[in-house]
Amino acid sequence: MRLQHLSLTTDPGLEDVALDELRELAGPTVAGVLRPDGRAGHLRVEGEGDLLGSALRMRSIHHIVRPIAEFAVPDAEPLRAIRSAIAEIAPAIPEFGPVEATFRVTCARSGDHPFTSEQVEREAGAGVRDALPRAVRLKGMDVEVRCDVRGDRAQVGVQLTGRSLSRRPGVYRPHTSLRANVAWAMLALAHLDAPPTRLLDPFVGAGTILSEAAARWPQVGLFGSDREARTATGARQNLGDRAEIREGDARRLGQVWPDHTFDLLVTNPPFGHRLAGDADLGSLYRAFLEGAADRAEPGARLVVLAQRRGDFNRALRAVDRWETRHVRMIELGGLYVGLFVLALR
Ligand SMILES: C[S@@+](CC[C@H](N)C(=O)[O-])C[C@H]1O[C@@H](n2cnc3c(N)ncnc32)[C@H](O)[C@@H]1O
Repeated sequence: MRLQHLSLTTDPGLEDVALDELRELAGPTVAGVLRPDGRAGHLRVEGEGDLLGSALRMRSIHHIVRPIAEFAVPDAEPLRAIRSAIAEIAPAIPEFGPVEATFRVTCARSGDHPFTSEQVEREAGAGVRDALPRAVRLKGMDVEVRCDVRGDRAQVGVQLTGRSLSRRPGVYRPHTSLRANVAWAMLALAHLDAPPTRLLDPFVGAGTILSEAAARWPQVGLFGSDREARTATGARQNLGDRAEIREGDARRLGQVWPDHTFDLLVTNPPFGHRLAGDADLGSLYRAFLEGAADRAEPGARLVVLAQRRGDFNRALRAVDRWETRHVRMIELGGLYVGLFVLALR
C-alpha cells in the first residue's frame, strides 16, 4: 500500500495530542514528526490506507495540508524564482486537473525577507497561471495552494481543509469561547482509564468543553455553571437537554452544586487582558480549587487552563488538596497558558 504524507496544524504545545489522536483513528503505525524544522503547532505524519479520511475526523487540529514540493529561495530575485518554481510544480498537482478549477495561493512566512507574504501569494499565483489556464478566486476556490516560506526554504502543498476543522457549529459563541480543538485536547490530557461519569465545567461560557465531551464520551453526565445569566442561557441553547446548566459563582461551588459530586472537572477560568486585567486571579483560583475539591469524588481529576501560572501554583500550594500530575505550556493566540492536570489528594 502507498504511504501518504500529510502536514497538520494545531495550537503550539498540542502537537503530541494530535499525533496520539490520529493514531487512535488510523492505527498505531502512523509515524509522525512533531514541530518539523522547529515549526511550533505543526506536525508531519505518514501512514498507509486512508490517512486523509482519518485526519479529516480529527478534533484536535485546525488544518490538513498535503505537501507537494520544497525548494530553496535564492537571495537574488527571490520572487521571480518562486514564480518559476511554482510554474514547474503546478502541473503535478492533481487538484488542478479540471480546467474550470479555481484556486488561490496562501503564504505564511517566517524569517526576514525583502518581500511580503502577499507578494509571494501574487507571484506564486502568477506562476500557476504561467503553467495552467486556471482562474484565481479568493473565496470559495476549488484548490488552496500553500506556499509557505521559512527562512530560505519554500514549502508548497495543497490545503485540504477549507474551514478550520476546529470550528464546530454552535448557536452561541462569545469571544471568550475556548477553541474547540483545545477543549478536546484538555479532555484527552486527563488520561482517564475509563470514561468519566459526571463532568463539570464551572466557568462554562458557551459550553465548548462540554460539547467536546459529549462527542468524546456519549454516556457522560454533563454539568456546567457560569456567573453570567446570559452566558448560562447561551450554553443551554448550545447544549440543549444534553447538559444541566446553572447560574453560579465558581468561587462558591458548594452553593451552586450542593446536590452533585463529580469525577472529572475540566475548565478554563477567565484569562486574557479583557477578562483578567485587574481581577484578583489568585483569590479566584484559591476559592475555586477549594470548592472543586469539596465537590470532587475520591480519585477525581481536574484539568485547568491557567494564564497566571505563578498565581495558580501559589493557589495550589495554599489549598493543598490537589496533586499535580502533568503541566505543559500551550500558546493560544499569542498568550502562553499553563495546562494543569491535577488529581484529588
Ligand atoms: C474563558 S470563558 C470560559 C469558556 C468555556 N469554558 C468554554 O468552554 O467555552 C470564562 C467564563 O467564566 C465566566 N466567569 C468569570 N468569573 C466567574 C466566576 N467567578 N464564576 C463563574 N463563572 C465566571 C465568564 O462569564 C466566562 O463565561
